[in-house]
Amino acid sequence: MNATVPCIEFEDVVAGYRDFMILNNLSFQVRTGSITLLIGPNGAGKSTVLKTLFGLLKPRQGRVRLNGQDISGSTQKSLLAQGIAFVPQGRNLFGQLSVYENLELGGITLGMKTTHERIPEVLEFFPRVKERIHSRAASLSGGEQKQLEIGRALLLRPKVLLIDEPSIGLSPIVVKDVFKLLRKLADQGTTVLMVEQNVKSALACSDDAIALESGRLVLHRPACEILADPTMERLFLGGAHAANAAAA
Ligand SMILES: Nc1ncnc2c1ncn2[C@@H]1O[C@H](COP(=O)(O)OP(=O)(O)OP(=O)(O)O)[C@@H](O)[C@H]1O
Ligand SMILES: [Mg+2]
Repeated sequence: MNATVPCIEFEDVVAGYRDFMILNNLSFQVRTGSITLLIGPNGAGKSTVLKTLFGLLKPRQGRVRLNGQDISGSTQKSLLAQGIAFVPQGRNLFGQLSVYENLELGGITLGMKTTHERIPEVLEFFPRVKERIHSRAASLSGGEQKQLEIGRALLLRPKVLLIDEPSIGLSPIVVKDVFKLLRKLADQGTTVLMVEQNVKSALACSDDAIALESGRLVLHRPACEILADPTMERLFLGGAHAANAAAA
């Protein structure tokens, strides 16, 4: 693959819901095999970026490209076939079905033989989910359900993983494991675009960060620079200054 072609590219994308535009001429690029963290206040449009990439929203203007190919308006089936997997914000399981059945459904585009071969390998990442393999998904704890959702996406061995607030409901140790797993996947070539409010630890495992405000890009910098910059700490991480300001 041509190293100069970005894995993901938004070019002047305008997208939104009905007549209300959320992304306003948004342009950015994401390198293959990198983790890019999307940050910004509630309602900034972070989830909307992921939904637009996964074909849940069609850009009204501009282009979304995957490895140089225009995918604006592609169906989810075609995007899945191109190796994009999406773990949305919130709960997204079939609660009445078992853990195993949820995983089987995740592999529906792979065929049952491949799915059954891959399920054990995915479960190795999530031992607690493995123990509950025959339980109803709804009976898992919130954090276990999130791990199952991540596992379900990994079944596809995605080339691009879109993941929206994975840490919600996970205990700190599991969050650390999930970030470590994302890092390992990225180091093996998977491109990860992640939304995460747990900014400091997410930055530590990311290569780049993009900050959005009202659907516009306000910053795109290496994650290590943001972590090292006290101004950034005040703006995005709620450092001591922000705490003092809030107290005042
Ligand atoms: N289905 C929808 N219909 C109408 N408006 C929507 C819909 N989904 C999101 N919005 C609006 O779009 C804006 C951006 O939402 P989005 O979910 O992208 O924000 P976000 O940055 O992910 O926020 P959060 O940190 O709270 O998850 C918000 O004002 C939201 O109310
Ligand atoms: Mg969101």
